[in-house]
Amino acid sequence: MIYLDSAASYPLLSEVKESLMQAFENCYANSASSHLLGESALAKVNDVRELLADEIGAFPSEIVFTSGATESNNIAFKSLLLGDENLKTKKHIVISSIEHKCIFAICDYFQKLGYDISLVKPNANGVITAENVKALIKEDTALVSIMHVNNELGTINPIAEIGELCFSKGIIFHSDAAQSFCKTDIDVDEMNIDVMSFSAHKVGGPKGIGAVYIRDLRKRNLLPVTHGAGQEDGLRGGTVAAPLIIGFGKAIEVFPQAYSNFENDALKSYFLKKLQENEIEYLINGQGNILPHILSLSLPKTNVGVLVRDNENSVCLAQGSACSSKEIEASHVLTALGLTREQAEHTFRISFTHEITTANIDFLITAIKKAAY
Ligand SMILES: Cc1ncc(COP(=O)(O)O)c(C=O)c1O
Repeated sequence: MIYLDSAASYPLLSEVKESLMQAFENCYANSASSHLLGESALAKVNDVRELLADEIGAFPSEIVFTSGATESNNIAFKSLLLGDENLKTKKHIVISSIEHKCIFAICDYFQKLGYDISLVKPNANGVITAENVKALIKEDTALVSIMHVNNELGTINPIAEIGELCFSKGIIFHSDAAQSFCKTDIDVDEMNIDVMSFSAHKVGGPKGIGAVYIRDLRKRNLLPVTHGAGQEDGLRGGTVAAPLIIGFGKAIEVFPQAYSNFENDALKSYFLKKLQENEIEYLINGQGNILPHILSLSLPKTNVGVLVRDNENSVCLAQGSACSSKEIEASHVLTALGLTREQAEHTFRISFTHEITTANIDFLITAIKKAAY
């Protein structure tokens, strides 16, 4: 199978699989138990907490393990907005119109609670600018949430500029880093980030584990999203998933090496060169600063539905937004960029893994040629 959907989920790295197997076998004790095995599990969990914190310039005490970026995003909004006394009086939230669908679902919930939500549109390059965020900020803005990297376009938003803007206005700044973590640099201080969400399965780790960074976590009055027995600073109850966290830690260690394969954009350049050589008309959605493994492509003279269907046994591609559902609907990201429904139907996302070869790309080019109108 030629897997071109790593932005939806990156294949489990072999080193991670090995560490997971070992952890399931040896690290079975509850990390809250005070015996030797419990303490050993806790030490391993805290090593990963430290590793993740180091990766983003935070303190380990500011990291909470969750089930993934969706839960982290829920905590980011609910724990802060509904827990912090200073924020409770402010009822306005700014997000972008190209966020992951879970952010829209959380905002629907807040709208029902009486919050007002403003949507920042991307510019023509698919980027959310600080200027466009600034235009929507109001007196009672409690939170700005702008993703670091967009999952469909791969565009990198100017998080540091948006962070500086929010800091200057005393507004909490959250960024969903599910797509950027371990792929581009993050420093929560330099970028003035207050809250950030992470997911292990986007970096070759297991599904069902992620984390949320919350600045000065212990000094804040936060609402637990899962009431429990005090785990994760009382914010997220439930026995801590030590083996999954250990696997996440291994992914943080080894993923950058796998990802360095994309460094000079060679695969993307090869693919685009082949499209040109074969005179296949194409348009790239999103311009400028884009992660090297993601490519959103519109092929106006190709029947993309036929391309996907005829090759479903050999190629995995994302048409529309695979993260959210199996239904093919015009992606909200593409429509926010101004694409018509018809243009969106001619569009798909390719996201490479480090194992994709030029021969795989040649196969795809032949398949695209066969699906020409
Ligand atoms: C930007 C972004 N945020 C959140 C998520 C959800 O992450 P998780 O599957 O870890 O809940 C995804 C992917 O599905 C994503 O791409």
